[in-house]
Amino acid sequence: MDTEEFRRIGHELIDWIAAYREGIEARPVMSPVQPGEIRALLPEAPPQRAEGLEGLTAELDRVVMPGITHWNHPGWFAYFPSNSDLSSVLADLVCAGLGAQGMSWQTSPAATEVEDVVMDWLRQMLGLSEAFTGVIHDSASSATFCALLCARERASSFSQARSGLQGEAAPLVVYASDQGHSSIPKAALLAGFGKDNLRLIETDEDHALRLDLLEQAIQADLSAGRKPCALVAAIGTTGTTALDPLEGMAALAQRHGLWLHVDAAMAGTAFVCPELRWMWAGIEGADSLVLNPHKWMGAGFDLSAYFVRDPEHLIRVMGTNPSYLRTAQDGLARNLRDWGIPLGRRFRALKLWFFLKAHGVEGLQARIRRDLGMAAWLAEQVDGAPHWERLAPVPLQTVCVRHVPTALAGDETALAAHNRTLADRVNQGGRCYLTSSVLKGRLMLRLSLGAQATEPRHVALLWEELQRAADQG
Ligand SMILES: Cc1ncc(COP(=O)(O)O)c(C=O)c1O
Repeated sequence: MDTEEFRRIGHELIDWIAAYREGIEARPVMSPVQPGEIRALLPEAPPQRAEGLEGLTAELDRVVMPGITHWNHPGWFAYFPSNSDLSSVLADLVCAGLGAQGMSWQTSPAATEVEDVVMDWLRQMLGLSEAFTGVIHDSASSATFCALLCARERASSFSQARSGLQGEAAPLVVYASDQGHSSIPKAALLAGFGKDNLRLIETDEDHALRLDLLEQAIQADLSAGRKPCALVAAIGTTGTTALDPLEGMAALAQRHGLWLHVDAAMAGTAFVCPELRWMWAGIEGADSLVLNPHKWMGAGFDLSAYFVRDPEHLIRVMGTNPSYLRTAQDGLARNLRDWGIPLGRRFRALKLWFFLKAHGVEGLQARIRRDLGMAAWLAEQVDGAPHWERLAPVPLQTVCVRHVPTALAGDETALAAHNRTLADRVNQGGRCYLTSSVLKGRLMLRLSLGAQATEPRHVALLWEELQRAADQG
């Protein structure tokens, strides 16, 4: 492709994306296609001769768009908000256009130094002390994996330099709540702790980790000759945005020498608002924390922010120094390949930079407060409606509900089927999309607010649609 063709088709594509966003509300939120339908629209063999990209937007409309579920739709109430602000779309374009690899400072100094600056801006925006230093990862799953690797190496005095975990006399143990995200057990298993050494502690009636049970589990492991190693606190669990008791967990971590990692992947965005920071009181006791600006905050995927207190330790665990990567500036600047797992790194910091320039801290605060206000309104409607039940507190933007008709009360199987039907009815209507989940044996509809385009009228529409679906029996 030459630059003239790139310019022409590139402008067409920008217009196409802008028109897509302008008209998104008219589309059904959830893709209606069946498995295999999109695949059938493409030839089985690759093009033998160059076809060129003329007519690309028509091809996108024909092949891709039927299979897109619209995460930026104002009727998006499923999974979690994953806003992809247009400012960060432009940043992704620049990132790809520059094609720079940011593995070492010297491979593109701007990639490292812009990341240094925007991660420090983010630290300030969240009210974190200067004790934390940030680095961008692709996902919270990767960051949590790194955290548990660092925990393992600290607790084992760098067993990786000897015979690894296999040479340890006492098994190392990881603790988290039974409401933690699946990325936590996954990280613990991948880091070699083994399922027998993972404790998922029960939660209280608000679905937050029970400190008394955590303490008992630590004592039991100590008595059995095992070594407590890491503790993961969820600030905003995936199911209900429950808040683990971070201050108490930090005290326990300190008392027993545990690594404390905080998973605030979705909810961390809230702490741009100073009045919400009480929810993660105790955060300064963490060794590491992760939050995803690519979720509720609004920077396009992938952009996960990982903060650590001891960068030297992270680099010692992750660092490699082969001769072909050494440069004269090593030691004078950060080489970000040593701050995570992959060697190659995209210039993702551009996304956060463009996004923060576009919105400013005040713009973000206003949107977070708007979303919290809409969630509180919805919770109030549910609380005031007969036969509707709210299953969890609403500290943030997720409202967990179910419909309980008198005839089905007490029959969990029937209630699950009934509420799944309600979700299907709403989703098939095309104007709103929500997902369900199981909370301690009860199927709930998880209404996750916070798409950028969602306004109060869309939340009112969701509530109407839910009630209409329930009225159908
Ligand atoms: C609390 C929490 N932690 C971790 C994750 C995983 O995030 P990622 O997709 O960035 O790995 C999620 C995703 O929804 C989450 O809600």
